[in-house]
Formats: sequence, structure tokens, C-alpha cells
Amino acid sequence: MAVHKILYSSRATAGMNQDELEQILKVSRRNNERAQLTGMLLHHPPTQLYPATFLQVLEGERDVLEVAYARIAEDPRHGNLKLLSSRPAEHRLFGEWSMGLEYVSDADLQRVLPGFSPDDPEAVRIQDLTENPAVAEMLLHLYVG
Ligand SMILES: Cc1cc2nc3c(=O)[nH]c(=O)nc-3n(C[C@H](O)[C@H](O)[C@H](O)COP(=O)(O)O)c2cc1C
Repeated sequence: MAVHKILYSSRATAGMNQDELEQILKVSRRNNERAQLTGMLLHHPPTQLYPATFLQVLEGERDVLEVAYARIAEDPRHGNLKLLSSRPAEHRLFGEWSMGLEYVSDADLQRVLPGFSPDDPEAVRIQDLTENPAVAEMLLHLYVG
């Protein structure tokens, strides 16, 4: 079956601790397994300038994916969603994962955003990640296999 893939970024609306993230993960794994969706959720903690950032990739059958994305987009735990890409994919990148979770460190971010500095308003911004599909894809690839 053809695989479709979406990639979006969002901002947490409130502080997210590890328990809350794991709760999201638990529900996601249950639902995604049932819907044969796979993917990865990245979380970067809040900085002085920005709330916590999410980047999520979801893969699966297109109609199923669109229904899931519509539900996720309404979740009040995050907002400011930006759909960075929605396209057919040759194969699943995260075939083994109903949903993976990775905590993005500043060092990881600096690998794809040279000059990134979390609390310096003059430096490279995390915006460049949340609005730029190529940068977001590069970051995701750090966590593949
Ligand atoms: C950043 C973020 C990512 C999420 N990812 C998924 C997901 O991949 N799959 C999923 O079913 N729900 C995901 N959720 C949760 C959904 O928004 C929603 O709460 C959940 O699907 C409801 O499931 P339930 O009706 O079984 O309780 C996510 C929520 C957030 C805040």
C-alpha cells in the first residue's frame, strides 16, 4: 500500500514534564498501532525565548493519517501547528515505531542549525527549525536507526 508522510511542528501550550510526554506516547502508540501509523515525536525543552517545541513525523495510509492529524491538531496541549510537509513516501522511515520519542538537546540542534543558541535573541533561532522543512528533516534523520 502506498505510504503517505506528514511532518509538522508545534509549540507546547504549557510546561511538559516527562510524565506528561510519556502519557502522550502511551496513547499514541496504542492508537497508531491500531491505525498502522508509524512515526517519531521530537521534543525540545522550553528556552527563555520559546515554549517547548514539538516536531512529529507520521507515516501511513493517507486517509487514516489525515484523520489522525486532524485529531492531534485539536489537542490543547500544543498549538501553532505548522504543516511542513505532506507527501507520498517510498517507504517508511520509522517502520518499527508506532511512535518513537526523542528528547532533542541543544547539541543535536546545533548540528542542523549551526550557531543556534537557546537564550540569545541575536543568534540562530529555533524558528528556523519549526518553519523550514529541510532543517526539520535533517534533525529527524539524526534519530533514524
Ligand atoms: C505533540 C502531540 C503528539 C501527539 N501524537 C499523537 C499520535 O501520534 N497519535 C495519537 O493517536 N495521538 C497523538 N496525540 C494525542 C492526541 O492529540 C489525542 O489526545 C489522542 O489521540 C486521543 O486518543 P484517545 O481518544 O484514545 O484518548 C498527540 C498529542 C500531542 C500533544
